[in-house]
Amino acid sequence: MTSTSPAPAPLATVTDTGPDTVSDTDSAAAPGGRRRHAVVGAGHRSQMYIDAIVGEHAEVAELVAWCEPNPARAAYYDAHVGAQLPRYQPDALEQMIAEQQVERVVVATPDHTHADVVSRALDAGADVVLEKPLTIDAAGCRRISDAVARTGRDVVMTFNYRYSPRNSALREVIATGVIGDVTSVHFEWALDTVHGADYFRRWHRDKSKSGGLLVHKSSHHFDLVNWWLDDVPTRVFASGGLRFYGDENARARSLGPRPTRGTGAVGDPFALDLRADSRLAALYLDAEEHDGYLRDQDVFGPGITIEDNMSVLVDYQRGATLTYSLNAHSPWEGYRVTVNGTAGRAELEVVERGAVQPDADGNAVLDPSATPDRVDEGPRPHGERLLVQRHWAQAYEHPIPRGRGSHGGGDAILLADVFRGAQDDPLGRAAGYLDGVRAAAVGIAGNQSMASGLPVLLADLDLGVDLGGA
Ligand SMILES: NC(=O)c1ccc[n+]([C@@H]2O[C@H](COP(=O)([O-])OP(=O)(O)OC[C@H]3O[C@@H](n4cnc5c(N)ncnc54)[C@H](O)[C@@H]3O)[C@@H](O)[C@H]2O)c1
Repeated sequence: MTSTSPAPAPLATVTDTGPDTVSDTDSAAAPGGRRRHAVVGAGHRSQMYIDAIVGEHAEVAELVAWCEPNPARAAYYDAHVGAQLPRYQPDALEQMIAEQQVERVVVATPDHTHADVVSRALDAGADVVLEKPLTIDAAGCRRISDAVARTGRDVVMTFNYRYSPRNSALREVIATGVIGDVTSVHFEWALDTVHGADYFRRWHRDKSKSGGLLVHKSSHHFDLVNWWLDDVPTRVFASGGLRFYGDENARARSLGPRPTRGTGAVGDPFALDLRADSRLAALYLDAEEHDGYLRDQDVFGPGITIEDNMSVLVDYQRGATLTYSLNAHSPWEGYRVTVNGTAGRAELEVVERGAVQPDADGNAVLDPSATPDRVDEGPRPHGERLLVQRHWAQAYEHPIPRGRGSHGGGDAILLADVFRGAQDDPLGRAAGYLDGVRAAAVGIAGNQSMASGLPVLLADLDLGVDLGGA
């Protein structure tokens, strides 16, 4: 083993491209011509898939219809792709699949609808590309598992975080065995007061729609740990609460009268003014009249039923333990992962936004991980570092390839896998519905544990599928 850096190096600044640039077009074209795709849920997240289908992957994929209840959002994407595609309401999903000969649907609807949309699409004869989380509860897992078993159809889970070069690098380090067998993982994720706050403005704030952040957000993180360790979670204990956002906390901290929504509120760093972003205005403000969906509710308003501080303990089948925490009101955004093994330890540190500094109008980029062009910010610069240290040896820095575009270049590689088919990937990044169940199950069990105060065995959740061995 080489030791390239006896002293821990500072976090490397992430640049757009670099000498170790990850190729995002390595995959070969899928055989069989262009597959007919429809988008179900034409909101914010769908654009990544829409752009991929009509752009980079147009030779293998075709966009043929929308299933979207809001006409303003469907019209927005018609204009975006420069064509008027047939539109269908949610209850006409099966009709759309039949009439438009849809071979595959891309599902980017709110989390609580996933189980219904996915199982119906499979039954109607389409394969599915599904945004995380798989679903929000055990009944949803059962419904999707049953539909997969019944139809034999394919569900691709788009766990894009796996594809971030830094997360792939940690998987590589663990898989080489350089730190031995993993005994425990410590994983802290901090969401800042802009990005973290955003989960408290719309449907995510309602646990019956998102499953709370332990399902909605942490399913990314639990999937990473499952995949890093190539292991299966077995038991979960969780504790947490709503301690910062929400009307009761605002009252307790004497925050005074609050606006009901961000649009029009002046000089409030917690307010999201939809008019400041033409895309947000078109997708949500201009679409409100059709469904009353408010994208910019006050994060200190009533009706929030999700937690903003969560701590979780997870046991794994082969004996490792995960200690995990998620905070949604941090002054900086990023994460730290420590993996202890029988031969040493690996430590991944990532700063996605070192400090939140809104512009003169009080606005800041909502999701710092989705914006590759970052600047250094004071003593906590945007950057990433993966240190590996074996027992009795100096630490060294494991190189992280630089990717182009959002999520550290991960999204581009993911899309190539989704639309052209995963090639022989030694990292095994492509994910299916069982990976989705394994990730969502940790959050679902965590929610149950938070409610009961007791640990929960995943085998007792009745997920409709055996989580399997590693
Ligand atoms: N992987 C990631 O990094 C990432 C990032 C953002 C969102 N997401 C996921 O993408 C999904 C969508 O999130 P979003 O931010 O785009 O939400 P959104 O609210 O902006 O969009 C959802 C769209 O679905 C439509 N819709 C609601 N119910 C429907 C139904 N039954 N059938 C068809 N359409 C329906 C809504 O009208 C809306 O246009 C969520 O599951 C979320 O977890 C993933």
